Amino acid sequence: MNNKINFVDICCGLNWGDEAKGKIIAQLAKSGHYNFVCRWAGGNNAGHTVYVNNKKYKTHLIPCGIFYNIPSIIGPDCVVHMSSFQNEILYLKQNGFNTELIKISPKAHLVTDNHINEDVKDYKSQGTTSKGIAPCYRDKYARVGTQIKDVDYFKPYIWDEALYGNVLCEGAQGFWLDINQGNYPYVTSSTTLPYGACSLGFSPKLIRHIYGASKIYDTRSGTDPHFPESLLDNSDLMSVVQQGNEFGATTGRMRKVNWLNINKLVKAINTTGTTIIIISKIDVLEELNNYKLIENNTILSFNSIQEMKDHINDTLHSQCSSVYKILYSNNVEFVDNL
Ligand code: IMP
Ligand code: MG
Repeated sequence: MNNKINFVDICCGLNWGDEAKGKIIAQLAKSGHYNFVCRWAGGNNAGHTVYVNNKKYKTHLIPCGIFYNIPSIIGPDCVVHMSSFQNEILYLKQNGFNTELIKISPKAHLVTDNHINEDVKDYKSQGTTSKGIAPCYRDKYARVGTQIKDVDYFKPYIWDEALYGNVLCEGAQGFWLDINQGNYPYVTSSTTLPYGACSLGFSPKLIRHIYGASKIYDTRSGTDPHFPESLLDNSDLMSVVQQGNEFGATTGRMRKVNWLNINKLVKAINTTGTTIIIISKIDVLEELNNYKLIENNTILSFNSIQEMKDHINDTLHSQCSSVYKILYSNNVEFVDNL
């Protein structure tokens, strides 16, 4: 094996997180084409739900490569809470996965219990996940944080910072939670856009595919004036909450639901440079036989899922020049033609 990277594929979220990125990344990892699967940002505020041999697993920080025996890297712009990491390792070990494949960048930052206490106390109004994310990144950027290399416990997990072959990077959260692009301060404290993956230490020129994950309706876990309380009074949208089981993998909170805002989706695709878009959970609208989206602040209704797909395809193909493939998936089945 030479020491060169062949290419980097990236999967990122195009909405507000919870777009089934875990499912897509697991499916890509399963192909056996990748030498590494890497997380580039965030901490255990994320929640990835993955099915392996029909069994459901949940991870928060550790990349989904672990389910397919691929070296799984937690990058330098990630933040790690020690006992949460220990628990995740234990959980994976007990389920028979090879946790020796898990490595953390020496430059990742430590989330302390003080960060968590401060998050719980001071960030409630923003509806954070209470995982200490904002206080930890604040300390990182103020240059008073603690790096993982300086904590004895992590010694066996320290990554040698080498990447080679085919690399897959898994995003956490989504485009509209990005610190720069989102509805500040109702955002997370890291870069959710694919360029953030370059913090792992590779050139942006090595990026090949950018898989953008979206749901066919919008959801928001946590506070955001863009998702007003009045959405909870809309019985059609509340049916989507129930049918789509829109409750957080990390917090258990009910997510707010709205019809897909296609203008926001176009912006997210064009800014991320998405080449392949996977729109999931179409079965939820099919079950409810209710097909709507928002375009230019107006609700558009369709008579069938096909009509809705045709409209989405036409819009994306005409407004998003980077996209060459649009795929749809339902809640349970994998996308098998990635
Ligand atoms: P924090 O990242 O815990 O500081 O939370 C900031 C905002 O991002 C809150 O509105 C959270 O609900 C939201 N958020 C953070 N991580 C995720 C995620 O993985 N999925 C969905 N929302 C998230
Ligand atoms: Mg999630």
